[in-house]
Formats: sequence, C-alpha cells, structure tokens
Amino acid sequence: MTRSAEPAVVRLGDPANRVDAQAKVTGAARYGSDPEVARPVFAFLAVSPIARGQITRIDDRQARAVPGVLDILTHENMRGEIRPVKFISDGGYMGSSIMPLSSPKVLHAGQIVAVVLADSFEAARDGAHRLAISYAEETPSPGFDSEGVEVVAGASASKEHQDPKVGDAEAAFAAAPVKIDARYSTPTQHHNPIELFTTTCAWDGDKLTLWESSQNVHSFKNGLAQQLGIAAENVRVISPYIGGAFGSRGSLTQRSALIAVAAKRLGRPVKLVASRDQGFTIASYRAETRHRIRIGADQDGKLQSLSHEGFEVTSRPDPYMVSGTDASTRLYACPNVASSVSIVHADRSTPGFMRAPPEVPYLFPLESAMDELAVALRMDPIELRRVNDTKTEPIKGLPYTSRSLMACFDEGAKAFDWGRRNPQPGSMRDGDWLIGLGCAASMYPTQMGAATARVTLTISGTAKVQTAAHDIGTGAYTVIGMIAAERLGVPLEKVDVQLGDSDLPPAPGAGGSNTTASVCNVVAKACDEIRARIANAAVASQDSNLKAQDPKALRLSGGRLIGPDGDGEELQTAMRRVSNGAIEAYAENAPHGVGPDAIERLYRGSQTLAGGAKLQDRIQFAFGAEFVELRVHRLTREIRCPRVLGAFAAGRIMNMKTASSQLMGGLIWGVSSALFESTEMDRRQARFYNTDLAEYLVPVNADILAAEVIIVPEEDHEVNELGIKGIGELGNVGTNAAVANALFHATGVRIRNLPIRLDQLLGAESI
Ligand code: MOS
Repeated sequence: MTRSAEPAVVRLGDPANRVDAQAKVTGAARYGSDPEVARPVFAFLAVSPIARGQITRIDDRQARAVPGVLDILTHENMRGEIRPVKFISDGGYMGSSIMPLSSPKVLHAGQIVAVVLADSFEAARDGAHRLAISYAEETPSPGFDSEGVEVVAGASASKEHQDPKVGDAEAAFAAAPVKIDARYSTPTQHHNPIELFTTTCAWDGDKLTLWESSQNVHSFKNGLAQQLGIAAENVRVISPYIGGAFGSRGSLTQRSALIAVAAKRLGRPVKLVASRDQGFTIASYRAETRHRIRIGADQDGKLQSLSHEGFEVTSRPDPYMVSGTDASTRLYACPNVASSVSIVHADRSTPGFMRAPPEVPYLFPLESAMDELAVALRMDPIELRRVNDTKTEPIKGLPYTSRSLMACFDEGAKAFDWGRRNPQPGSMRDGDWLIGLGCAASMYPTQMGAATARVTLTISGTAKVQTAAHDIGTGAYTVIGMIAAERLGVPLEKVDVQLGDSDLPPAPGAGGSNTTASVCNVVAKACDEIRARIANAAVASQDSNLKAQDPKALRLSGGRLIGPDGDGEELQTAMRRVSNGAIEAYAENAPHGVGPDAIERLYRGSQTLAGGAKLQDRIQFAFGAEFVELRVHRLTREIRCPRVLGAFAAGRIMNMKTASSQLMGGLIWGVSSALFESTEMDRRQARFYNTDLAEYLVPVNADILAAEVIIVPEEDHEVNELGIKGIGELGNVGTNAAVANALFHATGVRIRNLPIRLDQLLGAESI
C-alpha cells in the first residue's frame, strides 16, 4: 500500500519564513495610519517652542480663515472632556501624565498646544502654521548639571524600587589590591520607527474605534476609556501591523484622547499623522544616564567589591526610571555589592521604554569597567568573566534557572577567532588602520505575563489562533502559528493567526521580550485542550482503533490522530466524534510569580511581567557574548566597524530564522547605540534639535560590514513549560561596551561617554 505524502510540517525551531512577509512587501498589511474611514477630518498638531512657562494668548483668526479648517482645539475651548489618568509606574496607563490642552501651562518643548482640524491634511498644516500663540517663557532646566532640577533617590520616587545590596562594598573596595573607579554616560536616544506616530478615531454612537500602532492594545483600550469617562467595552483598539515600535508604542500617549475628542465634536472620523520632528516630543524616548562604577578585585581577578551608582533624567511630574542595577549587580559573583539610582526631574517630556530600557545604559558602564579591570590585571577579558562566572546571583544567592554565559563567550570567541588578538592596545595594524577587538557580556531578564488565547480547529484542517498579542516586526505571527501547527498537527500555512485587536482575548503588551514565552505557552495549552477532546472521544468510541489507550498518549501530527505505537486515523474522522464543524478552545495561563489576580487584571489592561530578578525563589535571565572589530584610522581618526558577532543562549528557539534576524537587528542597534545614535539638546532652550532622520544618525549597510549571530543550544524547563526565554532585546545589550572596548584595544583611548565619535579621538594623547 502506498501512502500519500504527509503535508510538510514545520517543526519548532525550523527556519520558517515569516507568514506575514508577503502581506508586508505587497502593501496588503494595514498599519495604524492606513485605515480607510469615510470622510476623514485631518488633524495637525501645533507644539510649543518653549520648554517652560505659560501660554498667554492664542490668536487663531488667521488659522480659522484657512479654507477647509473646521475647528481648532486649544486649552481655551477644551471642556474637561479628558480626565487625568495615572502614569504607568503609578499603576495607570499613561506614558506621561503631562496633559496638553488641560491648562495654559507648558512643561516641555514640543508639548502639544493646539490641534487643528480640517478637510485636508494640507489645510490642517497650513492652519497650524498660522496660529499665533504668545508665551510667558521661564528659563528651563534642561537636565544634568542645570540649575533648578530636582534630584530624587530612586527609593523615594517609587515604592517598587529597590537598590540591590549585599555585604560591605565600601570596606571591600578600600581593601582590594586592584581597583577601578570610573564614570560613564549614555545619551538621549529616540526610537524613530519608520512608521510615524499616527492616530485615527471614529465614533459609532457610543462606541469608539482607535486605529493606532500599539504594543499594548488592551492597555490602550482601558486607558483611553478612563480618559474619556466611558466604559472599556465601548472602546476597540486595532493594530494588526506595526511599522517599528522599540518601546515607543508601549504606553498610551496623550494624543489619542485628543483625537477621540475631536472626532466626537465634529461627528466625523479624525486622522492624525504627526510629523517626524513632533514624534521626538509627543511620544517617549531613552533619557541620558550617568554612572559611577567602582570595582575592587584580587590579583586573580575575582571581584571583591562592586558598586554601581546610576543617574537618570526625567520630566517634572513623572518618576520614570529604568533602574538597570537590578541586572548589573547580578551578572558576576561578588561578595560585596552596593547600588543606587537617582532621578533628575527637568523641564522635558517624560522618557519611556526603549530597547532593553535598563540593560542597555546600565551594562555599558559595567562591561566597560570589566574591560578596564582586565587591562589593569593584564588578563584576557574573557578569562576575567570566567573567573567571576556564577550559578547563583550574588544578592540573595538565588539560583539561575540556567546560565550559558561562558558557553556564549567560548562559542563566540571561536567563531570570531579571538585567539588572533594581541592584547597590547595599538599593536594590531593594517597600514594606517589600527585594528581593535573587543567583547562584552549581554543579559536580559526572562519575563512572562498572564495571557489568554482562543484556538479553533476546523474539520477541513485549518486552524485559527486569536489573541490580542502584537507582532512589532519580531516574527510573532510566525512563531505563534508554528506552535499551533505543531500541537494541532496541521501545516503552518493552514494556521490563521490574528493579533493586535482589543476584541481578541487579552495578552500582555509586547514589552520586556515576553511575547513568545507568554503567548506560545497559552496557545499550546489551548491546542492541547482541543487534542484532549479529540483523543478522549476516540478512546471512548466504539469505532476507533485508538480506543482503550490513555488519551494523553494520543497526539496530532500530519493531519492524523496518532497513538504511541504509530497507528492512527485521519484527523477528520477523529474530529467528527466531537463536532461537525470546528472545535474551539479558550485558554488562560498565569505564569509563576504573576499573582492570583493576574488574568482578571489582564482583562482590565493591566499586566505584571514576572521573572528576571523579581522572583522569590530563583532568577531567570538569557545571556550572550558580543564581539566587535573596529578599525580606526591613525591620521584621520575615522572609525569603521567591519564586523560584529554575537553568541546567545535563550532556552528554546522557536524559529532559527526569525530569531537570528531579531538578534542581528539587536547587534546592529548595539553598535548604533555606541557609534551613532544621540539626540542633541540645545540646553539654553531645553529643545532637541536633530529631530529628523538626516541628523539623527543610524547605521546603514556600509557602516557595519558583517553582522553574525550564533545561537548556543540551551534547555531550561523551569522558566516555562516550553522552555522559552525570549530574545527580543538580548542582542543589543552590552554591544555598546564591546564597541568601546574594541576602540580601546585599537587606540589605547578609553571613551566612557557615548556616542563615540571621531572628535573624541582628535585630541587623544595615545593613538
Ligand atoms: Mo521593549 S523597550 O520592552 O518594547
């Protein structure tokens, strides 16, 4: 007997192509600004040129005279339609508690001061430019080192904040034979997703639909409902495709409610597409940080003392802080650790999540200082990490669920040919080019949130997965489809994954690299319930050759229900005992550490991510090692990056292709955070000035010639059933330090302030 070939089954880990690739490259994918609404009104924002003061007068006569202008929202004509809603870290939904148009007060440059509404985009823009707004300006405090800022200790700014500490770091530092004491800084950075910040709102009676690229549709839904004083059931948020997020679309901004109010007043849908420069102040950004690191070690390189003091900038009202000491104090074994975080309230917009918010700025100083220690000890920097490797974190002594840091260093070193490195700075040359090789460690918390999903398997062999998770370009559609395909035994192309719509069962926001772990585990659970129902019916039936078996031993594969000895029957036959059309299962999953009310809170758009260093009984992180080759021209001091390589271990990898792409993007970003990205501020006016993609530098292909990713196998069944750690933000942590370390190796010049630019090398003494 010949058997027909089984449909090709994509297995977990396979390098499957993205299921949404074609939709994206053909324009079929609909982004936040793409919905076609009937008779839209176009909105254009007017923003404040001053950073601190009051609006004294608004003359809108010329603006209202522009043909097509319908209305202009200002603080003078808003009637309390928008209620204050708490800031995210106070348990609310807002990325900033600064409420534009609620009063004449201006708290930062680029604050929204008016919304011009017109029949065309051009008329709205023209109207906005013709607004005459007068201000009483006060001298702003731009940030670090300026007069009038308020410095607050992290512990008093937030109840949640803890400063990791163990032993007596001061005394151990004083007694250590080898010491590093250095200060570092990282700059302001903006996400600059290619898709601009847009909002479209349409009312249908009491019901509001918001189309906006979002990393957290359930949170947006609930937050917007609170702002407008309406029931959350009356708000729907739609965001199936996102043109770059990087954290910038993680929390609700104040613009959405303004557009909702405009749409209500005009009785028509309203569409806002903010300009690129406005995106620098109406959404969030990564604030600049400063650090002091002190490390004391013995002659063998073993750390005796580590202290990390961090300083961050935020807005006047909001205590936003990233507190990366949670990670930096736990990377290496050390008996005496101290840490502190302080925030500086200044006259600027509220910062927010951006690409490994805590770890990127806080591992740069630590991993630079470790390189400085290796130099002081005349020790190989990888050997220094090996000497200080640990299986338990040093603060509470909790065990890592798994930790493959040294395996990553070893695999990476082999592929990078680290052995060719002459440790003497400036010793490796190619003509006038000085060659530098540097490395650094990466770590990222393995976090999960409560999640829900609905899975439907039809009798014709197609499946549907519905969950309000998000694919922010990472491949979530693909890996979520893969887990359903594997568990239901149907081909990947027969699985329809629906995400990014608040009408779907809630899932956590796409932040903290949690989506793959949170969502794949709950989807697997729903699929297993479908399989169990089919298997139970088979075992109970008279006509199945699979009867009298343990239903748990039956699995779905290749369109069949299969027993432990390999015999089985067609899935359709097996399904007909349960249903003539489709079998649907809804599942909830609340992972270890999220608390008993996590699912209930998830339905209110409020999530807790558990994991990382926050658990009581264990610690869970993914690790990696990055290697960078730099070339610095001896005379012009031009800096080139011919190669970056990262080796990463993050538990089970769902899809080698999407995972490698994600990690490669991270490496490029890491190099970018060291050599390119920086938002510059005119400190006299507290205004960002390189607010476009010409002046805000990001690397292009010619800037990084080769980027390579190695995935180191790792199994971890403690983190969750599927053993997934998450890789979204792992690739760009530590890479900035690897760049600075390579630069030191090339030139003998240690640069502790990012970004590293040619001008910092011009006056350098040793090169
Ligand atoms: Mo990320 S900055 O947690 O989207």
